[in-house]
Amino acid sequence: MSRSSRLPGFYKLDIEARQHLLAELADLSPADLQALAGGLNVGDADVLVENAVGLYALPLAIAPNFILDDQDLLMPLVIEEPSVVAAMAHAAKIVRMGGGFTTGSTRPVMIGQIQLLDVPYPDAAIIRINALKAELLAKLKHLHPTIRKLGGGPLDLQVRKLPHTPAGPMLIVHLLMDTRDAMGANAINTAAETLAPELEAITQGRVLLRILSNLSDQRRAWATCRIPVGALETPELPGEAVARGIFEANAFALADPYRAATHNKGIFNGIDAVALATGQDWRAIEAGGHAYAARDGQYRALTDWRVEDNHLLGRLEMPLAVGTVGGLTKYHPTARLALKLLGHPDARQLSQIMVAAGLAQNLAALRALVTEGIQRGHMALHAKRLEMRRNS
Ligand code: MEV
Repeated sequence: MSRSSRLPGFYKLDIEARQHLLAELADLSPADLQALAGGLNVGDADVLVENAVGLYALPLAIAPNFILDDQDLLMPLVIEEPSVVAAMAHAAKIVRMGGGFTTGSTRPVMIGQIQLLDVPYPDAAIIRINALKAELLAKLKHLHPTIRKLGGGPLDLQVRKLPHTPAGPMLIVHLLMDTRDAMGANAINTAAETLAPELEAITQGRVLLRILSNLSDQRRAWATCRIPVGALETPELPGEAVARGIFEANAFALADPYRAATHNKGIFNGIDAVALATGQDWRAIEAGGHAYAARDGQYRALTDWRVEDNHLLGRLEMPLAVGTVGGLTKYHPTARLALKLLGHPDARQLSQIMVAAGLAQNLAALRALVTEGIQRGHMALHAKRLEMRRNS
């Protein structure tokens, strides 16, 4: 967006006034505004899943204040949990004081797995697959013309040995494919299925599974921030103490899986909320994130926070397999609207936006936990709900 994402007093407006302001800021049409009232219709639901009987709605909110790579941005969030939106807006405001988030991402490379069993000579099979790699990849030439036209397509084959499984030794072939702006599940699954008979013939083995891996560690996004410690000050605590506390809280979650699960859950409060708003497969994102958090054998925090030169430095890097074409983005008007609010990002940009949302949410949670505790904010909203119920 060309205007500032600072929206002081936005939270004090009623919903209609917020919609009006949003329409002005993001140049929304009457149809866009209609999408704010629910979006998906029952007919679409019937096309999306089997045995549909209705729809299920959740709140869509906006977190203001974000700056990502020098661009102001309004963060669309679908979430039912109180405090998350306010906390995220507050964290984005703090990060803004350090210039905002800096983000990046890898090429959008998905992994497809082909499981080979009963391979008589595994080492010879690996040599043969590697020798025939170019020919095997060429067998996929006719697939996915749009992805290819946009610069994507199959990139590599990698073979892994699993010598000790309860079902005996296996060879696992990884197909790496750049799926561009598609999340890519269908594309990579089709390609894996296409390669399977060829791999059986080459290895004299038996193919069982042909499916993507949700540990999409070749498709990562990262966000960093650098906050002057003064921006973290609270009425009770100097900024240095808050920054040190955030470092210590993160250290706890790096060392202890019990804390890491809660810490990472907070990160997903941000990531899933953007994933839902923009029509992503949030189960795939969760699976990838949690598996990545355990990549060295112990489940750990996904973030890194440290204090240097009077600044708090934060970083979050993780797999994020997201798409801006196909999938739910095709059917769900509110998901399309959320993408419009974000300035029609491509898949890599969307993953960068989501990882910044995750880092913001983690900052908000840690800041609250090391200062006043999490309950004060929660209880204030709880009281507001009780009052609303009493008055209704
Ligand atoms: C609550 O939804 C999320 C937190 O528990 C995250 C955390 O503890 O870091 C507050």
